[in-house]
Amino acid sequence: MSRFLKIAISLIILAGFSHAGEKTFKYVGVKACKSCHSSKRRGNQYGIWLKVPHHDAYKVLATDKAKETAEKMGVTGDPQKSPKCLKCHTTAYGVDKSLIAPTFKIEDGVQCEACHGPGSAYKKFSIMRKIYQGKLNPADYGLNPSPDEKTCKRCHNEECANYKTFNFEEFFKKIAHPIPKKG
Ligand code: HEC
Ligand code: HEC
Ligand code: HEC
Ligand code: HEC
Repeated sequence: MSRFLKIAISLIILAGFSHAGEKTFKYVGVKACKSCHSSKRRGNQYGIWLKVPHHDAYKVLATDKAKETAEKMGVTGDPQKSPKCLKCHTTAYGVDKSLIAPTFKIEDGVQCEACHGPGSAYKKFSIMRKIYQGKLNPADYGLNPSPDEKTCKRCHNEECANYKTFNFEEFFKKIAHPIPKKG
């Protein structure tokens, strides 16, 4: 067997193994997306997220309005510590601690990964590009490229005393963050 062939075969085997090993995806936090997704050319998804309420979802739990909300819902204690509030006002709540990377911050509220899935495997430039070009299957890397109404309704439902009737088209317009079409 030629040396080249041996190397090629072992690389294929290695790739197979590391791929299988990557079935656990970690939540890395919004700052890990910011580095690439804050340029205007790419659509500045990070900048848009900073302007919509999702980035504030955890901080809002420290307000007087949150105390009133908790009372209405029969929840006692600090809303920023209550599972009954955190499950919708943060990202990855209840997920095993081993799946939370050190870069992840609960303070950042409803982050990219709340809708797009944990980013540890897909955030690499080469992988992101290939997924976008349709050369890799996003699900193999933990990415949901197309969150839909069902994704939103995990949190946008009657459970919160502040619930406003959810209409996907209308609500999505308020958070839209498209990649600009190349002219
Ligand atoms: C190293 C750079 C880089 C990082 C970090 C990165 N991305 Fe990307 N992302 C890209 C590139 C490049 C594309 C392809 C589109 C483009 O060229 O703008 C892309 C595309 C996407 C898409 C569209 C995929 C599709 O097939 O429609 C989503 C969704 C996305 N990124 C989310 C994220 C999230 C969430 C994070 C953080 C967890 C993240 N990205 C981190 C570079 C990056
Ligand atoms: C509340 C849910 C939600 C959050 C939070 C969110 N996104 Fe998205 N994202 C969506 C939806 C819905 C779409 C549209 C999917 C489609 O068109 O099928 C989308 C689309 C995208 C696209 C592809 C746009 C295109 O034109 O193809 C990129 C890139 C992206 N998001 C990156 C991010 C980044 C980076 C963050 C965090 C800074 C983020 N998203 C936060 C729901 C979300
Ligand atoms: C992990 C839970 C979660 C998910 C998933 C989620 N949201 Fe939200 N959303 C929230 C919370 C919590 C708030 C309120 C935050 C605040 O006021 O600080 C909010 C607020 C909003 C607002 C502002 C509402 C207003 O009255 O001004 C819009 C618009 C919105 N979300 C759209 C969406 C869309 C569209 C999706 C799905 C693509 C989605 N959200 C998915 C938790 C979520
Ligand atoms: C099922 C998910 C869910 C749960 C559980 C939940 N919330 Fe919410 N909360 C939301 C969403 C989504 C919104 C945005 C309002 C809307 O569009 O429906 C919101 C809005 C709010 C707002 C209004 C924010 C503003 O900007 O005016 C406050 C305050 C709030 N929630 C506090 C709480 C507290 C306190 C708890 C726990 C006792 C809690 N929520 C539990 C999903 C939830």
